[in-house]
Formats: sequence, structure tokens, C-alpha cells
Amino acid sequence: MKVLLTRRLHDFAVKKIRKRHQVEIYTGKVPIPKDVLVSKIKDKDGLICYPYDKIDSDVINAGIKLKAISTFSVGYNHIDVKAALERGIIVSYTPEILTRATADLAMALVLSLFRRVSEGDGLIHKKEWKTILGPYEFLGTDLYGKTLGIFGMGRIGKAVAKRALGFDMKLLYHNRKRLSPREEKSLNARYVSLDELFRRSDVVSIHVPHTPKTHGIVNLKLLKNMKKTSFLVNTARGKIINEKDLVVALKKKTISGVALDVFQNEPIDASNPLIGLKNVLMTPHIGSATVETRRAMAEITVKNLMLSLARKKPIYQVKVESGHLGRF
Ligand code: DGY
Repeated sequence: MKVLLTRRLHDFAVKKIRKRHQVEIYTGKVPIPKDVLVSKIKDKDGLICYPYDKIDSDVINAGIKLKAISTFSVGYNHIDVKAALERGIIVSYTPEILTRATADLAMALVLSLFRRVSEGDGLIHKKEWKTILGPYEFLGTDLYGKTLGIFGMGRIGKAVAKRALGFDMKLLYHNRKRLSPREEKSLNARYVSLDELFRRSDVVSIHVPHTPKTHGIVNLKLLKNMKKTSFLVNTARGKIINEKDLVVALKKKTISGVALDVFQNEPIDASNPLIGLKNVLMTPHIGSATVETRRAMAEITVKNLMLSLARKKPIYQVKVESGHLGRF
């Protein structure tokens, strides 16, 4: 069968597909332009894509032979899953394996905000560290005893909770579904409403998927609810936060700071008002970017595709019941 990869993937993974199928790897501009994708998909049975490829109904309908879409990501909001499922196309993704890496990054961002790590680094690189710091200078905040609010207590949210417990933080969470009393007890996490989560937390970390329900859900109203000393961390999807509202909140010092790994548009525009704001820490969407995790993702992406093309169940299949289908 014929398989299209919209971008290079690890050699070992491509070799595996090549043993059974004919592979075409697109190596041009990233993300692959829509017209190119629409033309290339026409004779393909399988597609491997990435979170920034828009696999909308035009692409899906152009793929008249398409049987399987395998995304190199845990998020699948870039795929019109409904359109794919209606055509009987199997959609698969890579959850679980990137839980640890993403949770580690979320904690790294929390730590960096609280202890002003990137600010300190910047000070030295800009050659602005002129005097030995005194007792009141460059102070950060202890994590100990502070409240971490986890918005989205799925796999990644729980992994963040476990890490935060190691720092003796208090935990609140908000989720579509409340955890079982046993799980709440083991994570020492209290379920609260979204408003309460934002109102009571010293730092809120976002771990919900991007769906029509969560689109722009973190808006000025919620941000105004937060303590002036609090922080916000987003390693999930940029569009969950209303970025314009966030800029207003940061400029007005409604909250103390934010750490973002994801943005409304990626890569962000040079004119994005977040750039240059003092209380903003940014990383370029690297939640799952570790050697080990990306290798494991490549392995699963290929297995998912090969199983689907063989009309077997992939390891991780996107199902209708999962409640957060891709949006378009
Ligand atoms: C994902 O897998 O969805 C992460 O955002 C990494 O791209």
C-alpha cells in the first residue's frame, strides 16, 4: 500500500514501514501546504501526520483510498476525526508515552517561574549582574506549601500531581469527570470548580485537550479571579487560553507571570505582544521533545499505522466515545 509522511521521521521507524509499504516522505515547507497535501493524498492508503498539519474534511475527502491516519502526537484536534470516521478511516495517536516528558516540562516551568530561573540566566547573559545580590534581591517563591491547581486531571495532569507532591505542594484539580475517592486520596488532590481552581491556586497548570468546549476557556474573567501573586502554565494547547486576554492580564499585572510551551499560532509571530513582556516565560512547544519520548512516539506512530492498514486494532485508536473529537 502507499503511505505518505508529511515530514521526516526516525530512520528506524521509516524502515519498518518500507518493509511492507511504499513510502513517500514530503520534505518541503513545514507544515505541508494544503494544496500539496490534497494532491499527494489522492493515491495514498495511509497517512502519518503531525500536530501542525490540518487534516480537515477536504484532505480526508481527497484521500479516496485512505484507510488510516496515524498522528505523531497525543493531541488530535488537528484532525477532523468525525469526517475520517464517517469514511471508515482508522485514526490513531500516541498517548501515554509522552506523559512523563510533558509532566516534567510542566514542572520545569513551574520551578522556573517560582525561582526566576530564566530571568537569572538572562541577567547574566545580558551582562547585567553587577553586584552580589542582597537579602531582598531577586527573590523567588517557595514551592513548599503552595497550591497547584491542575486543570485537566488525565494522564498528564496526574503525572504533574505526583511530581508536585514531591515538592510538598497542595493540590486542587478540575476535570470533566471527578476522580474516584481512592485516586483523590492517593494524589491528595481536592476537586473544585474551575472558578475556584483559578481563585485559590498559586499556580494553575493546564492539561485539558483542545476541544470546542475548552477553546478560549481561560479568559480574562478567569484570569481576573486569580491571585495577583499567582502563575499560569500551559503545556497543553495554545487555543485553550484567550491570548489577547492573557496579554491584558499580564500588562495589568492581574497575575504574576505565565509560562507557555504552546501558543495560538505556532511558531509565534515576531509581532506577538507576548514577546518582550517581562513576566512571560516561553518554550517552543517542546513538551514531548526528549530523545527517548520522541523515539517511542515514532515507534508507536508506525505500529499504529501498520496495524490499521492491516485492518487490525491500532495500539491507540481515537474513538468517537472519547468525547473530544477534532474540531473544524
Ligand atoms: C502532542 O503530542 O500533542 C504534543 O503537543 C507534542 O507535539
